[in-house]
Amino acid sequence: RGKRDLAGKRVLISAGGTREYLDPVRFIGNPSTGKMGLALAQAALHRGASVTLVHGPANWEVPLGVQAISVISADQMQQVMLKSLPNADAIIMSAAVADVKPRDYSTEKLPKRSLPQTLPLEPVPDIVTQLAQLKKPHQRLIGFAAQTGDIITPALEKLHNKNLDVIVANPIDLPDSGFGSDNNQAIFLDLQGHKLEIAPCTKLQMAHHLFDFVISEGI
Ligand code: C5P
Repeated sequence: RGKRDLAGKRVLISAGGTREYLDPVRFIGNPSTGKMGLALAQAALHRGASVTLVHGPANWEVPLGVQAISVISADQMQQVMLKSLPNADAIIMSAAVADVKPRDYSTEKLPKRSLPQTLPLEPVPDIVTQLAQLKKPHQRLIGFAAQTGDIITPALEKLHNKNLDVIVANPIDLPDSGFGSDNNQAIFLDLQGHKLEIAPCTKLQMAHHLFDFVISEGI
């Protein structure tokens, strides 16, 4: 692919999972590795965009030329995404944000004997919903829905409830796709009712398919 069809565009990507700590050594988290967000950053860079990548704990190197901001919790990711929003033409929330956090945080490691039997939880902010409320009409907002079983129904609900332009319905219960894999498969859905199924491919190929889809609708 030689085309630089994102030249002059600014792409803001969130990647990886957030961690919600209970004490310095224990957290609520999820299996996201951030590889899909990394692939999106690589694809956007390759196509000429200026790229900001906001990512949770990761074990990969950030590509040269990408502005990376690392965060740990959903609250931190929210702050960085809100601050970065005005400077973006397209925003892709591929991060697996925790849905809840422990209500209490202990700065000292809790001894095993004083760990609570049940853990009081609090919701974390829905970042992409907030971005949707603040975004300007020219900004494109793309979300991911990692689902099991029927992926389309919940993805369409999220597309509409969260006010997104596009959602990537992403099965995580099939072999060689989803969390941690180098490969992926998905169905892209948009507000106009378009539906595009992408057969299993590498996450980098998936990233290019997504930019093809978003660019074809104008960005
Ligand atoms: O977790 P859920 O399936 O609702 O995620 C759908 C989309 O919403 C994803 O793009 C995810 O990054 C985003 N999200 C978010 N803030 C949350 C939870 C999810 O931005 N607290």
